[in-house]
Amino acid sequence: MKGVILAGGLGTRLNPLTLVTNKHLLPIYNKPMIFYPIETLVKAGVTEVMIVTSGPHVGHFLSILKNGKEFGLKHLEYAYQEKPDGGIADALSIARDFADDQPLAVVLGDNTTDADISDAVKNFKSGGHVFLRQVPDPQRYGVAELDKKDKSKIVQILEKPKNPPTNLAVTGLYLYDNKVFGFIDAIEPSNRGELEITDVNNMYIKRGELTWSELGGYWTDAGTFETLFRAGKYWHDKAQKEAK
Ligand code: DAU
Repeated sequence: MKGVILAGGLGTRLNPLTLVTNKHLLPIYNKPMIFYPIETLVKAGVTEVMIVTSGPHVGHFLSILKNGKEFGLKHLEYAYQEKPDGGIADALSIARDFADDQPLAVVLGDNTTDADISDAVKNFKSGGHVFLRQVPDPQRYGVAELDKKDKSKIVQILEKPKNPPTNLAVTGLYLYDNKVFGFIDAIEPSNRGELEITDVNNMYIKRGELTWSELGGYWTDAGTFETLFRAGKYWHDKAQKEAK
């Protein structure tokens, strides 16, 4: 399986920090944010990776990640999203040639987790797979509604609903087969003008091809000052504990 890290977007919620560099290069404790999704993929055995990025600071990635060898990557590619806020699905569409018909593990560049997704990667055959997580504030995320009788089935995913049907957030880690690119071609921009990954996931649901598992360990996105701070504190405290 190949990996794609989506690190486009403008990161406006982190202004003025994002005026000087890309959001995904800001520090979470002692490392740039992008190191965390790279490490998640490498831990899962995914060592051929494409990073999709955009905005005025794209060159900064190359100087810090180089060819990815230091992280255990065998191959690292960079791609440029022309419309920086075209949406997560728009950013993913750029990885079509890189995927070369292989399945993909996709991670949002602002997601940090110590979960191990190796088993899901190893056992993935076809369709799509999402990792869910109980959260206290589901309105901030894509939210999964499960079948009342068969909890192994997701009936729909709602993007940032005002009245969430559950507290199960769809985290920013996804596994897809190559049908994902056809689904992206078929969706339309949402009210906020973005090609939404939630619409892609709902297409897999309609075909009965979206599976899910619970994401273990710690997980957060880090796109706001509050979550950036919280993520830094978690990784700081974990390092302190491990050093004892
Ligand atoms: O973190 C999980 C959540 O991420 C999911 O629950 C939501 O369903 C999903 O839509 C997404 O929500 P956010 O509003 O948090 O997404 P955001 O716009 O902050 O983008 C997250 C990352 O995706 C960002 O760090 C870089 C990448 N991205 C985003 C956009 C809009 C791109 O590469 N290109 C883009 O155009």
